[in-house]
Amino acid sequence: MYANQGRPHRKPGMTRLLLLLLALASSCRCCPDRCLCSSGTVRCQDLDLDAIPRSLPANTTSLFVTGNRISHVDEASFPARLDKLTDLYLSGNEMERVEAGTFRNLPNLARLDLSDNRILDFSDRALPDDSKLKLLNLSGSLHNHSLTDKVLRFFFRENLLQLTTLDLSHNDLLILPDGVFTALSSLATLNLGNSSLITIQNGTLPPLRDLDLRDNDLKDLPHATIAEFSLNPGLRVQLTGNPWRCSCFIDDLVMWLKSSVQVVDSDNLTCADPEAMRNRPLLEVPPSQLKCSDDMEGVLETSYVFLGLVLALIGVIFLLVLYLNRKGIKKWIYNIRDACRDHMEGYHYRYEINSDPRLANLSINSDV
Ligand SMILES: *[C@@H]1O[C@H](CO)[C@@H](O)[C@H](O)[C@H]1NC(C)=O
Ligand SMILES: *[C@@H]1O[C@H](CO)[C@@H](O)[C@H](O)[C@H]1NC(C)=O
Ligand SMILES: *[C@@H]1O[C@H](CO)[C@@H](O)[C@H](O)[C@H]1NC(C)=O
Ligand SMILES: *[C@@H]1O[C@H](CO)[C@@H](O)[C@H](O)[C@H]1NC(C)=O
Ligand SMILES: *[C@@H]1O[C@H](CO)[C@@H](O)[C@H](O)[C@H]1NC(C)=O
Ligand SMILES: *[C@@H]1O[C@H](CO)[C@@H](O)[C@H](O)[C@H]1NC(C)=O
Repeated sequence: MYANQGRPHRKPGMTRLLLLLLALASSCRCCPDRCLCSSGTVRCQDLDLDAIPRSLPANTTSLFVTGNRISHVDEASFPARLDKLTDLYLSGNEMERVEAGTFRNLPNLARLDLSDNRILDFSDRALPDDSKLKLLNLSGSLHNHSLTDKVLRFFFRENLLQLTTLDLSHNDLLILPDGVFTALSSLATLNLGNSSLITIQNGTLPPLRDLDLRDNDLKDLPHATIAEFSLNPGLRVQLTGNPWRCSCFIDDLVMWLKSSVQVVDSDNLTCADPEAMRNRPLLEVPPSQLKCSDDMEGVLETSYVFLGLVLALIGVIFLLVLYLNRKGIKKWIYNIRDACRDHMEGYHYRYEINSDPRLANLSINSDV
């Protein structure tokens, strides 16, 4: 084609045909440059691309654009409709923003992998209103817990009704925003492993089938959360790798581990705290360790004794100071007494003068 173009003796009609061919070639929906395509799968991996290739085969079902440096995707990322595309892998791109309209031309997208990015913003209009998404992978993509609320806000838009699997592992979440998964009405499998969670409040998680909470910073689970989990007998939870505090507050958790089969790794849970209990399996903590009231009484008793001792010490020091200063104090008291006496005598004297009728007139006149 290009060789023909170079020929000096071509006819005008030929030129027009070549231009047409060129135009077709640029909009050709064949395998993108440097990518690998085979039976519906297109792979553009580790190619240092800064955008999704513009033209993709119309029959693409799975697209891998991983390990590139695509900092954001928006509605220009998929300019043509790809009806067959169900699987999209965009992991490892240092991607920061997923903008409105990005996936509007992918109406049958079922699995979206955005793992290992650094997402700062995810538009709640990125996915279409009738999204068919079943699996979303955001593992290792949220590295700043102060943005958790903002980034996960798109869950609240009620368009992910078919989402069954959500991977939020290896993130920095700290605390889950209130009701963040409520609109995900089909969610069954949730991976929150290694996501720095410090607590799970009741009302945060929908009724799930599989919940992975391994390797977080949970020291206990609130009573209301355990009660909520218990109401969902189909639930399977994993809890290994958390720094459980084996004090009386973990009483509920131990009771739950013993009475239900929901915690599949209950044998593997160990105490991290207090020191004496470290690495001891939760299921083997003696019940005496989990009595709350005794502990609290002990603590109160100790603090009363301590307060008493401090007060006694202050009293002794006060008395000692008085004793050591006894001479000075005596002198001081005498001084005060003398001063009082002088003062009183002065009064007495003036009173006598004022009450003398002969002098009364005199003082009035002198005042005038
Ligand atoms: C997709 O289309 C290309 C040509 O555009 C063809 O070579 C390939 O076999 C097709 N794949 C499927 C799965 O239909
Ligand atoms: C999500 O991505 C991570 C890393 O790419 C992978 O290990 C994990 O299996 C994926 N999760 C799911 C549910 O596919
Ligand atoms: C996290 O985000 C906040 C708010 O945007 C910002 O101030 C802070 O520097 C970020 N922290 C890190 C470690 O990037
Ligand atoms: C947890 O995630 C961090 C990155 O967020 C990673 O460095 C660490 O190896 C992970 N730990 C486990 C136990 O998977
Ligand atoms: C959480 O539990 C508390 C105490 O049992 C209850 O009052 C509250 O309504 C619950 N919250 C949600 C959102 O379920
Ligand atoms: C418990 O820990 C052992 C040893 O680390 C491991 O082989 C086993 O798979 C764990 N059990 C569960 C249910 O995670």
